[in-house]
Amino acid sequence: MQLVTEDNITTLAEQRWATAKDPRTAQLMTALVRHLHDFAREVRLTEAEWMTAIQWLTATGQISDEKREEFILASDVLGLSMLVVQMNHRFEPGATPATVLGPFHIEGSPELGFGGDMSDDVAGTPLYITGTVRSLDGSPVPDAVLDVWQADADGAYEAQLDVDEARLRAKYHAREDGTYCVRTIAPKGYSIPMDGPVGDLIGRTEISHFRPAHVHFLLTADGHEPLITHLFEEGAEYLDSDVVFGTKQELVVRYDQREPGSTPDGLECSVPWVEARYDFVLQPCAPH
Ligand code: BEZ
Ligand code: FE
Repeated sequence: MQLVTEDNITTLAEQRWATAKDPRTAQLMTALVRHLHDFAREVRLTEAEWMTAIQWLTATGQISDEKREEFILASDVLGLSMLVVQMNHRFEPGATPATVLGPFHIEGSPELGFGGDMSDDVAGTPLYITGTVRSLDGSPVPDAVLDVWQADADGAYEAQLDVDEARLRAKYHAREDGTYCVRTIAPKGYSIPMDGPVGDLIGRTEISHFRPAHVHFLLTADGHEPLITHLFEEGAEYLDSDVVFGTKQELVVRYDQREPGSTPDGLECSVPWVEARYDFVLQPCAPH
């Protein structure tokens, strides 16, 4: 019989998990066991504390469904999502940096033409985001797809509302010369959902639970790495304290105030609007 002691249990558990048939699974699981045991030893984890943690994980699972992604939120506020993004998207200097996907992206957004309005009747200041999608060498990337989504002026995403139609999200295509034009409303900073286990935990700290105003982008184009990123408004509140660590200086854009009149898509806007100009630079795929 194998005698299990406080001293040998980590080695025994690692040996067991090293038998995983897939070598990468074996590597991941043995490292996980080692770090979990080290954590428990370092903090001298009590049984009551471990039960509280298990109940928190259970609640995180129970509140999650196809619209509510509490585990993504947990990973985001721990800084783990952003660490994994940065390790896996080490683009060349000059390429637009990647940031977190977040829990609110919805697949299959409707396609809109150049300057098509993804805000429909949602209240807010009209915002045009225009620019060119380029490759690292500066050449335009025709037909890049820009999948765009954002929150409304109350900080609510479609996934958090009971609506039947696509709301504040759309797909745009860059034209032959790489230019694109998104029409939406100026986003506001907002709080992450605080009514679940993640909010409960954050509420026990001094952590700010807000994100600075931003619009999300997922760009895809032939021959280039997909790019998940955001554009943040220059001067926005919470840029220095983003609760999910998603801000980067390269992703901050100026909003220029415009009077009623002609807009970048050649049409007219009858109320004051704002314009943000940004050229996305995509990282070409590594040669095989
Ligand atoms: C978001 O920007 O949509 C988001 C990202 C991470 C956590 C919560 C929200
Ligand atoms: Fe967001």
